Amino acid sequence: MNRSKRTITLLAASAALTAFLCTALALPAQQAPAVSQLVPDNPLHLAPPAQPIAFSHKKHLAFSLQCKACHTNPDPGILMTFPATAKCMSCHASIAKNKPAIQKLAEFSKSQKPIPWVRVYAVLPGIIWTHRAHLQAGAQCEMCHGPVAQMDAMSEATSVKSMASCIDCHQKKGAKTVCSTCHKS
Ligand code: HEC
Ligand code: HEC
Ligand code: HEC
Ligand code: HEC
Ligand code: HEC
Repeated sequence: MNRSKRTITLLAASAALTAFLCTALALPAQQAPAVSQLVPDNPLHLAPPAQPIAFSHKKHLAFSLQCKACHTNPDPGILMTFPATAKCMSCHASIAKNKPAIQKLAEFSKSQKPIPWVRVYAVLPGIIWTHRAHLQAGAQCEMCHGPVAQMDAMSEATSVKSMASCIDCHQKKGAKTVCSTCHKS
């Protein structure tokens, strides 16, 4: 590629990026407040599971996308959801569309099947759990899931699923600690 052609390509790329930043990310460029992790690290240091598409939180959160852009907490509020593939495609219909991972993403989008993400955190059956009560009490994602914005591949980095972590925070925050708070029987 000759020099001027390359300059034009670079200009086009930066114009596209600017347009993308202004439209796709129509959010005030605010500095996210530093939230600290309140539960201990997972002592098992589990490797991240292999995912159908290598999604990086670090890469995506670097452009001030907020968690709620992709994870919502619909009624009854127990679960957080995963983003619809259309959400990904709102950017990737044009961004990095020649990359193999994005071509795979486009195939999922075309087939209209949800991307089969491998679950990272899951409490044992029989445990009473809800995101809603925690979010309403002011708990922030990073308190339980750690520094997600620094994670390339998501792993079970914290010990939030363990009874000791649940109870320790409940004690500190004055939440209930009787067995029946978290155990069905
Ligand atoms: C651009 C979309 C996007 C944004 C923004 C995003 N996530 Fe995610 N998140 C995903 C996708 C896709 C997955 C599934 C793949 C994976 O586990 O990496 C996921 C998985 C997770 C998981 C693992 C869930 C499980 O148990 O399987 C956690 C926890 C999580 N995200 C927390 C966060 C937090 C906290 C934020 C904000 C700091 C955030 N995410 C922002 C798309 C996003
Ligand atoms: C707000 C726009 C936006 C959204 C929404 C978004 N991405 Fe991205 N994504 C980007 C940008 C920008 C890059 C960096 C492109 C580059 O490095 O060339 C990227 C990079 C990637 C890459 C790495 C591509 C490669 O091989 O270099 C993957 C994989 C990816 N995104 C998957 C996803 C998935 C899955 C979702 C939905 C859960 C998603 N993205 C949602 C903007 C977005
Ligand atoms: C009080 C601790 C705590 C807080 C705060 C918290 N989570 Fe979770 N999260 C968990 C636990 C425990 C699980 C496993 C729950 C299960 O088995 O369904 C989980 C699971 C998830 C999942 C997988 C889907 C699901 O609901 O099971 C996603 C995605 C997720 N969290 C994202 C977030 C995001 C985004 C925030 C902030 C808006 C957040 N979490 C706040 C503890 C927490
Ligand atoms: C970061 C601190 C923190 C962690 C970790 C945490 N909780 Fe909580 N939990 C709270 C707070 C605060 C409340 C709300 C108390 C209130 O509204 O009175 C709460 C409320 C609850 C409730 C609703 C109680 C009710 O009946 O009103 C349940 C169920 C619960 N937690 C289960 C769990 C389980 C299970 C875990 C571990 C997997 C866990 N929590 C981890 C802080 C935490
Ligand atoms: C704040 C939530 C919470 C409270 C309160 C709580 N537990 Fe648990 N408990 C859990 C969680 C979460 C697990 C699953 C831990 C894991 O996945 O390793 C668990 C696991 C257990 C187990 C291990 C058996 C199993 O299911 O794998 C026993 C036994 C147990 N709890 C007994 C109790 C008793 C007795 C009390 C009351 C004194 C109590 N728990 C109070 C959250 C709680």
